[in-house]
Amino acid sequence: MNRREILQGSTALAVAAAAGIKPAAAQSPIVIKFSHVVTPDAPKGKASQKFKELAEKYANGKVKIELYPNSSLYKDKEELEALQLGAVQLLAPSTAKFGPLGFTEFDALDLPFIFHDEAAFRQFAASDLARKMFEKLEANGVKGLAYWDNGFHVMAANRPIHHVKDFQGLKLRIQGSKVLNATTRAWGAIPQVMAFSEVYQALQTGVVDGLENVPSNIWTQKFYEVVKYIAVSHHAHLSYAVVTNKKFWDGLPADVRPPLEKAMAEASDYFNAIAKTENDEALEEIKKTGKVQVYPLTSEERRSWLQAVLPVHKEMENRIGKDVIDALYKIVDFRPDA
Ligand code: LMR
Repeated sequence: MNRREILQGSTALAVAAAAGIKPAAAQSPIVIKFSHVVTPDAPKGKASQKFKELAEKYANGKVKIELYPNSSLYKDKEELEALQLGAVQLLAPSTAKFGPLGFTEFDALDLPFIFHDEAAFRQFAASDLARKMFEKLEANGVKGLAYWDNGFHVMAANRPIHHVKDFQGLKLRIQGSKVLNATTRAWGAIPQVMAFSEVYQALQTGVVDGLENVPSNIWTQKFYEVVKYIAVSHHAHLSYAVVTNKKFWDGLPADVRPPLEKAMAEASDYFNAIAKTENDEALEEIKKTGKVQVYPLTSEERRSWLQAVLPVHKEMENRIGKDVIDALYKIVDFRPDA
């Protein structure tokens, strides 16, 4: 039986058994695979390393955390499927990766201009809405552990994007979220969904002309080598949700789960404390290379981006749920004219 037949014909449990995955309680030490798509020196790489150090220390050698950075184990969409099957235990995907798997409420976090500052995202992360969104994951075997705030996107491209009219015909790599698709089209650009690990080559070969991302990713993935212009637009936010396999987590021995929860809380504080500085520093490093022109949008230019994409909020009501969008507006004090 090949892997595809196993996946099609069996329950997640049978797949886990076929892959030799033992329940946590039967392992010594318990091995926790933490897979992600960025480099070890990006904020997520550093926070996963911090979690490893703290978790192994607090659990007194009862767990071993194995880190798999840079999509070395799974790419974007595969990693969430692998988590549901029990082949990996921890991930920290951007919330844009959840919509394509049917968790469409998460698309709300990609609505353009939804967060006007870092405090607004933190208010969401501490809200009932954020907790309820995690609860929805549980019916599908996924447990949310923490939200991580990786700050605001800039737009990197092979031509200057200042006014919204500059987007016309630009091929932009996007993550899978339908909101990002609608936003890109509303700007007049052409969206192309692509795994993070494929972006460098796609930029280099002209398969795409640009992408939105945070400066720390543009720096650590060396995208600055293959784009020429960055518009500091802060038009959208990069949010991560740290997730685990619910059955695995719930099955952890009583003397292991609390130390891991403590380690996760501290690693989350660490992530949220370093990400903004790392992004600011990365932008300075990118400028210093002299390879990229970094341009802060004027307020008039930024407004032209905003006006073009505001209708996307309404357009996405059916997919996300009007109740979810309204609740989010309230939590973040959504003020599109601010
Ligand atoms: C992307 O796919 O663009 C990023 O969200 C990758 C990441 O996890 O930061």
